[in-house]
Amino acid sequence: MCGIVAYIGPQNAYEIVIKGLQRLEYRGYDSSGVAIHNSKKVNVFKQKGKVQDLIDFAANKDTKGKLAIGHTRWATHGLPNDINAHPHQSGDKKISLVHNGIIENYAILKEELEQRGHQFESETDTEVLVHLIEEIHKNSKYDLFDAVRIALNEVIGAYAIVIINSDNPNELIAARKSSPLVVGIGEEEYFCASDATPIIEYTKNVVYLEDGEIAQISLTNGLKLKTIANQEKTPYIQELEMHLEALEKGGYDHFMLKEIYEQPQSIKDSMRGRISISKSKVALGGILDYEEKLINAKRLIFVACGTSWHAGLVGEYLLEEIARIPVEVEYASEFRYRNPIIGEDDFVIAISQSGETADTLAALKLAKERGATLMGICNVVGSSISRETDCGSYTHAGPEIGVASTKAFTAQVTILTLMAMMIGRRKGTITNKRFNRLLVEMKAIPDKLKTVLKENDLIEKIAKIYYQSTNALYLGRGINFPLALEGALKLKEISYIHAEGYPAAEMKHGPIALIDEEMPVFVIATKDSSYEKIVSNIQEVKARKGKIIAIVTQGDKEVKKIADHYIEIPKCDELLVPLLATVPLQLLSYHIALLRECNVDQPRNLAKSVTVE
Ligand code: F6R
Repeated sequence: MCGIVAYIGPQNAYEIVIKGLQRLEYRGYDSSGVAIHNSKKVNVFKQKGKVQDLIDFAANKDTKGKLAIGHTRWATHGLPNDINAHPHQSGDKKISLVHNGIIENYAILKEELEQRGHQFESETDTEVLVHLIEEIHKNSKYDLFDAVRIALNEVIGAYAIVIINSDNPNELIAARKSSPLVVGIGEEEYFCASDATPIIEYTKNVVYLEDGEIAQISLTNGLKLKTIANQEKTPYIQELEMHLEALEKGGYDHFMLKEIYEQPQSIKDSMRGRISISKSKVALGGILDYEEKLINAKRLIFVACGTSWHAGLVGEYLLEEIARIPVEVEYASEFRYRNPIIGEDDFVIAISQSGETADTLAALKLAKERGATLMGICNVVGSSISRETDCGSYTHAGPEIGVASTKAFTAQVTILTLMAMMIGRRKGTITNKRFNRLLVEMKAIPDKLKTVLKENDLIEKIAKIYYQSTNALYLGRGINFPLALEGALKLKEISYIHAEGYPAAEMKHGPIALIDEEMPVFVIATKDSSYEKIVSNIQEVKARKGKIIAIVTQGDKEVKKIADHYIEIPKCDELLVPLLATVPLQLLSYHIALLRECNVDQPRNLAKSVTVE
């Protein structure tokens, strides 16, 4: 949440920072701002709204300068308005700071600073931090770098910060704890950003700051790293593998649509190099060293949030069915605040697109303290979760920019399927015949998905019938139940229609009371072991005049007869249905949101990377 960009070097800093903020806008978009160093002074421009509002506001202003910091905000403390927008400045306006995270003890610090005469303009925790730095800097022998370091020892909470000083046109100071920050190293220029997307255009060489590290980035002295406890560190420079095209819309109207359409390829990329039909093998390189431990694990605990949690529910079904390992799927935010029973024989697996979700990260840290082995299933390479875990598998879905998760979900399910197959094979809980058949079926999924995408026009027509609904119900059974949850979440978050996902048989225990002729009921009714049961559930809805929109297997006869509308998906093994049946649900939400004139890529109140708890 919140995006940070900073630049120092020979180019026009404002342009680089603004472009970077637009790339990071998915992280928060309620207000934005920049601070630009220009001959001994710093010009600050801040605006409520989107980055475009800031661009319009700054259009006729002096934005010259070679050193700048910028921020796009998702409000935590204080309303989204011009004053609360970042950057924030010290009382003497010399120090400017952008911040992603939360300073939890800001109230106490603020009181102390007020007693010493500091006056605050905003309601934010961030302004308190910049005043604290000023206080330490002014009243001690410490230079700004050390003053920042000392201030950070006094704060409790999470932060990624970048600071500039009007007295020093050659330096950026950056630090992180529990919020991500990347430093890009170019030719006599440096960049900082919350993720690598604003940097990739200029350099592939980056340093991911570790928790508790502070960087002095100077045009004269280069990049120096320390811990906030004052220990010197050697920067570890990594090469980015990201491509610029992956960050563009590529002719699609929205990132979400592009990402839905990318799924045949992203699933292929998730499987690449990991399955071999000729060798009858699944291998997940990133967990090789821990394979034995994983196979002998007493239980697997998935920790995740939102859509990634839904992928975990699909994973539970797959792993228990194929690998016969008990699985628990936990909301990271609940797990970490309980006193969970975790032992050394447990494998705790974090599922996260961003790899930065604060609750998921905290759940992992708790599991680590209790001796569990940690694994990550992340999409963003180099993310905090991927670095916190003992082993892991990247999903390789490519950057996901639409705030609603689509291709990351199917990539996560792909990895979980491969993992279940790999363990099942080693444990002998899956027959060779079934394993080989699943391998062939997995390989065929990308092509089958292309067939599903051809249903887009039909799905748009269905969306036109139901886009004015105020409620919707999603039903599924077995491995398709998590899809009902995911379908409902997608609709809620981008179209603001109230929707609920339910196990179809549970409907009788309450939600059936909601059904009338106004209620669209989306049912995943593919040909599988619970087909007859779901047909009965559909009949129950029809008997109460509900409208059925069913996802069915090609060739289906029964459901087609009773449903008001149906969308066909190709036949596949029932364990692989989630990879196909999710996609029509994503498209339905997309079209409904569009018809309701909602901002599909940046839905209200949301942000992609939830780095606050
Ligand atoms: C929904 C969505 C969110 C995320 C959740 C976890 O479309 O995107 O529910 O799934 O915030 O995020 P990650 O996967 O980055 O940990």
